[in-house]
This record gives sequence, structure tokens and C-alpha cells, in this order.
Amino acid sequence: MSKSTNITWHEASVNKNDRRSKNGHGSCVLWFTGLSGSGKSTIANAVSMELYRQGISEYVLDGDNVRHGLNKDLGFSNHDRTENIRRIGEVAKLFVDSGKIVTTAFISPFQSDRDQVRALFDEGEFIEIYVSCPLDVCEQRDPKELYAKARRGELKDFTGIDSPYEIPAHPEIVIETNQLTVEETVRHVFVYLRKKRILNGRKAI
Ligand code: ADX
Repeated sequence: MSKSTNITWHEASVNKNDRRSKNGHGSCVLWFTGLSGSGKSTIANAVSMELYRQGISEYVLDGDNVRHGLNKDLGFSNHDRTENIRRIGEVAKLFVDSGKIVTTAFISPFQSDRDQVRALFDEGEFIEIYVSCPLDVCEQRDPKELYAKARRGELKDFTGIDSPYEIPAHPEIVIETNQLTVEETVRHVFVYLRKKRILNGRKAI
């Protein structure tokens, strides 16, 4: 429910398409979703690095970082996760409007939350990427030792242990991080971006 009344939307004088024309490429959100430890941040950062290297305007929004600032008032209840994703969706929309390719790395466990974010965007701008990795592999990796804590009962509501993860129903891309290298994954995403003409005429990597 919106609490703001008596406010008017102002059309900016420079618009998204002007910025895209100036940049020479499209803008979109590459929305990585998956379990903790599945590789979202690694891939989002690797894709962004390659975009940067090719002179493409990009930005990374990462779960742990955003929770240090904008969303530091939110925890991991279902309600707070929904609000976390809602805010990130709005921020991602601003980045897409600014002409950038924004990569996001949030567990975003609920299909309805991801669908709400998708609904903010024009057709083709929201690219849902399921970072698929078996729970036991994520748990073995356990880079932040959070699975171990969750198993010991020291961390409640941990995704995959005592909080659900809903596998995307119709993601644009699926990446299996226990079968591909990071480089292969990045190539996969670039193939998609070129196929959809978001990176029109860019050289192959
Ligand atoms: S989301 O569910 O709201 O999308 P988000 O991606 O922002 O989660 O944050 C997940 C990160 O927070 C994890 O990678 C992990 O480092 C940390 N974290 C701390 N507590 C939890 C928890 N209970 N469940 C999942 N991740 C947690």
C-alpha cells in the first residue's frame, strides 16, 4: 500500500532510450537467483567485469552489500525477504532506466517476489537467471560457514535448511555451477545478451 499522496510522476527530459543510444547498447537486469553458496555473486561479478572490460555501462547489486546499507533494517523472515527484494527491484529499475546492465545477486527465494520485480520492467528487460547447484554442494562449499551454523541450530530461517527456496518456474537462463566453469558461465550469458540484441554487434569473448 502506498502512503504517498499528492505526488506527481515527472517525465525526465533525457530518457532511457536516449541513454541507450548514447551508450551503443541496451540496458537490462540480469537477476541471478539461487541458494547461498550457489555462485550468484561470483558469476554476477564476473559478468559485470567482462561487460566493463568491453566498455559497457554496468553495475553489480549484491545481497550481502545491500544489506549493509539500504536494507540494513531487514532480516530474514519471509516478510523481510519480500521487502528486501521489492526495494532491490526498484533500485534495479533505476539502473536500467539509467542505461546500464545491472547484475543482481540475491537469493530471492520466492517466485511471487521475483514475479513482482519482473512486473516493474518492460518486456525483455528482466532476465531471470537460475543459478542451480545442489544443496549438498552448496553446503560443502559453505564459504561463510553459515550452513554449519544453521545445522547446529545457531542460525534460524536459513534458506535450504529451515526456510524454503522456490526454483524459478520459467527462468530465461539456467546455469549449473557444479558443471560449468565461471568463464563458460559468462560466455553463456553473453550469448544470450547478443541473441536478444542487448549487446548488438559486440565482439564475441
Ligand atoms: S534474500 O533471501 O533476502 O534474497 P539476500 O540475498 O539478501 O537474501 O541475503 C543472503 C545472504 O545473507 C546470504 O548469502 C548469507 O551470506 C546471509 N544470510 C544471513 N542469514 C541468512 C539466512 N537466514 N538465510 C539466508 N542467508 C542468510
